[in-house]
Amino acid sequence: MSTAAIIPAAGLGLRLGGETPKAFREVGGESLLVHAVRGLKAATAADLSCFVVAVPPGTEEAVGKELEPYAGDARLLVVPGGAERADSVRTALDMVPVDGIDCILVHDAARAFVPVEVIERVVAAVRGGAQAVVPVVPVTDTIKRVAPTGEVVDTPDRSSLVAVQTPQGFDPAVLRRAHAAGVVGATDDAMLCERLGVTVMTVEGSPDAFKVTRPQDLLLAEALLAERRLA
Ligand code: CTP
Ligand code: MG
Repeated sequence: MSTAAIIPAAGLGLRLGGETPKAFREVGGESLLVHAVRGLKAATAADLSCFVVAVPPGTEEAVGKELEPYAGDARLLVVPGGAERADSVRTALDMVPVDGIDCILVHDAARAFVPVEVIERVVAAVRGGAQAVVPVVPVTDTIKRVAPTGEVVDTPDRSSLVAVQTPQGFDPAVLRRAHAAGVVGATDDAMLCERLGVTVMTVEGSPDAFKVTRPQDLLLAEALLAERRLA
């Protein structure tokens, strides 16, 4: 049995700005997408046998050629992404083989520097029987719920709040059911599972699995990569 990885990489990166879609932006001379694929491949305990990458429509062929060397012996499929992240994931999910896959990871290209241990923790939890697994880190800011008019409604107890990262891991049948049920406004795949009543388990994430979202995140990414290259 092996793992398949879906990589949504079709976003424009509007918050990051710039001319190039975010997944193609470079850190240390390589695109975030290349870093993400290499990172997943380095998680040997995950037994990655298949990558399905969703990219901006029209870039499939070029991305396929670029990623081929990094996929190694794993199968690589590149599909056109959709309008929302969930659409990109659903299109990719349709291409994931059914036979021989006991875990599907969904991993944002923008979280290009997730450590191997986090990936392996997620896969181990799915193989251990969890139907859906998310890596989490404590939130450091105080979070408030705010009304559309701008007033604070309440302050949830921070000790029970976490920030959720990727890769998220799933029992393949559960993820297919969750996407078939399709919920509008879901911002991650675990949320689709929650709506089905599926229990979502957490494992420890990492600050290094931050999502490159705004320009200052590229500076952080450069620094992190430089440090890893020295190690
Ligand atoms: N994504 C995708 N298809 C979309 C939107 C997003 O595959 N229609 C992917 C992005 O490429 C990214 C991941 O989902 O790897 C997380 O999304 P986000 O960080 O929001 O990226 P963007 O949508 O590209 O950025 P922004 O929201 O700032 O435009
Ligand atoms: Mg987005």
